[in-house]
Amino acid sequence: MAQTLLKQNHIILLVLLFSLLIEGESHKFSRNLSPKSFPFKKEKISHLHFYFHDIVGGDHPTAVRVAEATITNTSHSLFGALVMIDDPLTVGPERTSKIVGRAQGLYASADLDEFGLTMVLNYVFVEGKYNGSTLSILGRNQVMSSVREMSIVGGTGLFRFARGYALAKTYFLNISNGDAVVEYNVYVTHY
Ligand SMILES: *[C@@H]1O[C@H](CO)[C@@H](O)[C@H](O)[C@H]1NC(C)=O
Ligand SMILES: *[C@@H]1O[C@H](CO)[C@@H](O)[C@H](O)[C@H]1NC(C)=O
Ligand SMILES: *[C@@H]1O[C@H](CO)[C@@H](O)[C@H](O)[C@H]1NC(C)=O
Repeated sequence: MAQTLLKQNHIILLVLLFSLLIEGESHKFSRNLSPKSFPFKKEKISHLHFYFHDIVGGDHPTAVRVAEATITNTSHSLFGALVMIDDPLTVGPERTSKIVGRAQGLYASADLDEFGLTMVLNYVFVEGKYNGSTLSILGRNQVMSSVREMSIVGGTGLFRFARGYALAKTYFLNISNGDAVVEYNVYVTHY
């Protein structure tokens, strides 16, 4: 009788210890993975080329000012203007050209002296194998310079682990309403 009880206690203790071990394991915060164990192929470099349509005027704007500072409208660089965008990205420069994605996020006038934007946005691709994949952009955009460079800081889907840069060149600017078409060349390494 006493021996069975002892045995039972022993088993209970073992089960407890074991569950504690499992518990400890499942609550582990981080672990190292061998790069070989990760199902990734070779790293590659892609070049993407598209046109970005920043439609400010008209009845269907894709770029809308959502906030401003008290000094924004009197600042020659529109300092403090914050614009939310969902701009189409197309293969060709015409607005009717095939859409390959959208640029969703924000840009803000962040330079007190010259017209310069901080861009914080995602390219959301909708075409072919890239459909559903995204690239994240965080960069400085000195709009009046002929070519501006911005960082690609990451990505999802086919662009996991992405990093690279985007080169922007204004293709068309309507000075009267602010509409712009910007040519983008994006170079990105990913797997
Ligand atoms: C500043 O200018 C913008 C764009 O023209 C306008 O929408 C906004 O109402 C103006 N803000 C003020 C405080 O006048
Ligand atoms: C992209 O993916 C969405 C959602 O999965 C799907 O509805 C759409 O038809 C796809 N577009 C293309 C061009 O493959
Ligand atoms: C530029 O914007 C003005 C004012 O909205 C518009 O009337 C004109 O057609 C636009 N020009 C071009 C070339 O799109």
